[in-house]
Amino acid sequence: MSKLILMDDYAQGAWTAPVYDRIGLNYSQIRRPDPRFEAAIWGALGSAKSVLNVGAGCGSYEPADREVTAIEPSPVMIAQRPENAAPAIQASAEDLPLRDKSVDATLCVFTMHHWDNVEQGLDEVLRVTRDRIVILTVDTDVMARMWLCHEYLPEIAVHDRRTFPSMEYLEARLPHLHIGTVPVPADCTDGFCIAFWSRPEAILDSRVRGASSIWHLLPVAMVEEALTRLRRDLDSGDWDRRFGQLRGQAALDVGLRLVVSELA
Ligand SMILES: C[S@@+](CC[C@H](N)C(=O)[O-])C[C@H]1O[C@@H](n2cnc3c(N)ncnc32)[C@H](O)[C@@H]1O
Repeated sequence: MSKLILMDDYAQGAWTAPVYDRIGLNYSQIRRPDPRFEAAIWGALGSAKSVLNVGAGCGSYEPADREVTAIEPSPVMIAQRPENAAPAIQASAEDLPLRDKSVDATLCVFTMHHWDNVEQGLDEVLRVTRDRIVILTVDTDVMARMWLCHEYLPEIAVHDRRTFPSMEYLEARLPHLHIGTVPVPADCTDGFCIAFWSRPEAILDSRVRGASSIWHLLPVAMVEEALTRLRRDLDSGDWDRRFGQLRGQAALDVGLRLVVSELA
């Protein structure tokens, strides 16, 4: 059972379906890999020839020039993988069907906050990886300062602080760690929740929200109230008076972090 419990799951008792079977339907359209993140991730993989992608989803950020093994629990996400992507094994981080030290590098992109048990998942990742672990994740302390979290829905940060492993935890848990800031470009193609820091109108689009789990996790009335305020502030010009300078900015640090652990 995933630790992400959707509000309507409570009503329907659908505790066992992988969450992304419910919310991942339009994922590959809205969450297109961003070339700048791709370059950073591929650079961090270094000379690794074999790469394990855990929580691989639709195949974003998988390097085409290396041997990739993809692990993904949701059949809905697996079905959206391109034809030329590595075939995915339906499994979870907590129980990887791989031999000890069998891959050069392991990649975890926007996934650890979905794992049932991060501690167990990292034990597994450490067991199967020879040289390097590369994680793209969010520092929720930085994220909490972004206007969406700070002014409209502080519950995003409250929720995410419970599910995302903190930078301090990762530092204590993984050897030889380097944490790098990844500025999010204004025209970021990977539409994760806080990628829209200069495009507030996009957040009013339900298709955009549909591809980020947080919008499915918070109570509907709470989300509606925040969206009504955002719509009103955009109509009145208040949002632009307060945050409009962001519209001209090329990139912003909203908390995205590239975390690299060297094992060898
Ligand atoms: C936000 S998506 C990221 C997918 C992909 N890495 C990307 O960057 O587009 C999170 C993924 O983690 C997967 N996931 C959820 N629980 C998991 C677990 N316990 N182990 C591995 N992956 C999991 C979800 O099914 C989903 O595909």
